[in-house]
Amino acid sequence: MKTEDIKQWIDERLSISTLAAMAQKKEVPVHRHSIWYYFGGMTLFLFTVQVATGILLLLYYRPSSDNAFESVQFIMTEVKFGWLIRSIHSWSANLMIATLFIHMFSVFFLRAYYPPREVTWLSGVFLLFIVVCFGFSGYLLPWNKLAFFATKVGTEIAGVVPIVGRPIMRFLRGGDDVTGATLTRFYGFHISVLPAAATAFIAVHVLLVQLHGMHVPAKYEHTYRKMKFFPNFILRDLIGWILAIGVLAVLAALFPWELGEKADAFAPAPAGIKPEWYFLFMFQTLKLIPAKVLGLDGEVLGIMAFNVVAMLLFIVPFVDRSPENRRRRMILNVAGVLALVYIVGMTIYGYVT
Ligand code: HEM
Repeated sequence: MKTEDIKQWIDERLSISTLAAMAQKKEVPVHRHSIWYYFGGMTLFLFTVQVATGILLLLYYRPSSDNAFESVQFIMTEVKFGWLIRSIHSWSANLMIATLFIHMFSVFFLRAYYPPREVTWLSGVFLLFIVVCFGFSGYLLPWNKLAFFATKVGTEIAGVVPIVGRPIMRFLRGGDDVTGATLTRFYGFHISVLPAAATAFIAVHVLLVQLHGMHVPAKYEHTYRKMKFFPNFILRDLIGWILAIGVLAVLAALFPWELGEKADAFAPAPAGIKPEWYFLFMFQTLKLIPAKVLGLDGEVLGIMAFNVVAMLLFIVPFVDRSPENRRRRMILNVAGVLALVYIVGMTIYGYVT
């Protein structure tokens, strides 16, 4: 193929008219559970808020243990609207994780992972891990006391796993302890490795959704209506995004994100230290497990159990492939409801104790 042929091939497929034709053609199913189709788009929108506010924060943030805390303090007190940008970045991260969980559980219960959508689900599971890593790495960046000790505890938990745990902990910390080297690493993950991975996986995820169209649950296969994506669905999406901006503005204005005190490795750990809410159900579980279970280390067992559950997420689309197997469908429904109740219950329990 000559260069000109390639250019023509790309032009034909990427021309505005092709995109317009695709948008014209795209339709979204309408049925009793269509509301759940909005949560993927909402997660995507909040991700773009993260990218935009994150870039603005980078203009002033300095990633070293000597300067990080002071640079965030400067952003909060001296930079015009710096407090607003930082608060929106932090609130939007939390809101994004919440909408991501809702999106994941809704596609799970609607069985949107049935063939041919296995890879869409798999890319989603990778995105879940990437987003959680964004949260964990970002939390340390202000280099305050709470973040310092939460990172110490979090990485210590990873270190408990037999054989691979210690090397992973040392890799994350950049040594044996949480130091400036840990901050440099987390900064690197947070602003380059994770954004690059997230962009690639989001591209694959959204492209596959575009390719396969939206999944319709078996129950509505013969009764659903269709709605044009452009302009009907996208305008509804837009209303949700404008509402999200409103919610973020209210949260940032009424509850600006706290900074606390600068990290000090020699200070005692603050009493009752807790991780961010999305890690709390795991943290609380590890606290409740007895030191020894059947002669084995309770904490190690708990961590291994969470790893097994995380691995199970990858095989969901391969064990349940069609609505015909009613028994399997029921088992997965019960497992999904139990997981949801467990996560919500343990999170609340973690907060009140
Ligand atoms: C950054 C994270 C994510 C973003 C930005 C995202 C975005 C989207 C978008 C825009 C859609 C189309 C609209 C919709 O169905 O809501 C979608 C569909 C889908 N997502 Fe995600 N998603 C993310 C994470 C996940 C996760 C964690 C899973 C599951 C483990 C997942 C599984 C799926 C599946 C199976 C579909 C197809 C739904 C259907 O055909 O009806 N996604 N995603």
